[in-house]
Amino acid sequence: MLSHRKFVVGVGGGIAAYKVCEIVSSLAKAGAEVRVVLTDRAEQFVAPLTFASLSRHRAYNDSDFWEAAEPRPLHIALGEWADLILLAPVTANTLAKLAHGLADNLLTNTVLASACPVLVAPAMNTDMWEQMTVQQNWQAIRSNPRYHTIGPGAGLLACDRVGTGRMAEPSQILAHLHSLADTLGKRDLENKQVLISAGSTREFLDPVRFIGNPATGKMGIALAQAAHHRGATVTLVHGPIEARLLAEADSAISFVPITTAAEMHQAMLCHTKTADWIIMAAAVADVRPASCSGAKLPKGDLPDSLPLQSVPDILQDLRTHLRSDQKLIGFAAQTGDIIAPALDKLKRKGLDLIVANPIDQPSSGFGSSTNQAVILTRHGDRTDIPLCSKLELAHRVLDQVRSL
Ligand code: CTP
Repeated sequence: MLSHRKFVVGVGGGIAAYKVCEIVSSLAKAGAEVRVVLTDRAEQFVAPLTFASLSRHRAYNDSDFWEAAEPRPLHIALGEWADLILLAPVTANTLAKLAHGLADNLLTNTVLASACPVLVAPAMNTDMWEQMTVQQNWQAIRSNPRYHTIGPGAGLLACDRVGTGRMAEPSQILAHLHSLADTLGKRDLENKQVLISAGSTREFLDPVRFIGNPATGKMGIALAQAAHHRGATVTLVHGPIEARLLAEADSAISFVPITTAAEMHQAMLCHTKTADWIIMAAAVADVRPASCSGAKLPKGDLPDSLPLQSVPDILQDLRTHLRSDQKLIGFAAQTGDIIAPALDKLKRKGLDLIVANPIDQPSSGFGSSTNQAVILTRHGDRTDIPLCSKLELAHRVLDQVRSL
């Protein structure tokens, strides 16, 4: 997704500038071309040489601004060259300039001299962030179609305050850049509400033992990210997922944590009415122990065989609640032949689209960062997606749902 894309990374004067080193390094390693522009203040946090080494190209600062650029002024050349611009960390000062179209340094002039999508990642002290004027500037940026935003998170700040103002994590920013590189900033899901399930469910026998499966939630998170990056309002109902993976998802997504299939069923039903698209990417446990003990069972009391009962099929039940304008999407994680069972599920569950993916192929399926799939629609269309990142597959799934 990033290979051969041209990025201008504009670095502002905040301590989070050190985290941008990791972003520049990842972009360069992924095959992107990167040009870094630092403000005067940014240079006091990270030396241009650091960014030059990581981007494999000289980094620019304001002293380069007035140097005769060959053949044209540097901000014009950079602005025209860029496919995408990342601004991180964005200070209150730079945010104000962006909101009002001011240009008094190389970074802001480059932004104005370009037409490509810009991802804006602010970072500042909580009191600064909460100022009405800063919030007004932030809203102005958010309502400008050219700017994509990744808001600051909450946590311990370098000024020792605990509050909102931490720059989004490099992994979140990189995921957003991957999406922008894929879509070139299209917001084709604006005004869409997308409800997604992710991860596994756990069906307990007692407080310490359960029936579950190895789904990690990566595919569901990728779908949530991709839909959010394209402008959708996203709700993610998820089973137990590693905190590290959840932290990679944008905080603008609304998370609904559940544990059992019954809880997932309730949560999905609860959010179904307002959703335009409902995507069941979760691996729901098909059965649960017929009874669940409230206290831990001693080893000697465990039964030799476990009486089981089926859990409701969530997709099948959701279908009975949907209006005709809502779309229902399922997944079929299969071994061996993936097509026939997926087609059967597409029909049996009344789906608009199903994503059949092999879990017995290298680098695909549970826990992997990549996946491959065949997308089948109720109209009989088939699209084969070769091995790619889960985020890229998520975009292809959304493309197909959109074209239904
Ligand atoms: N699914 C569901 N509720 C269940 C089981 C599965 O909503 N109780 C959904 C999954 O989220 C997925 C789709 O149904 O989107 C297919 O799941 P899968 O486990 O492949 O299908 P099953 O119907 O359980 O069939 P089988 O296990 O026999 O393959």
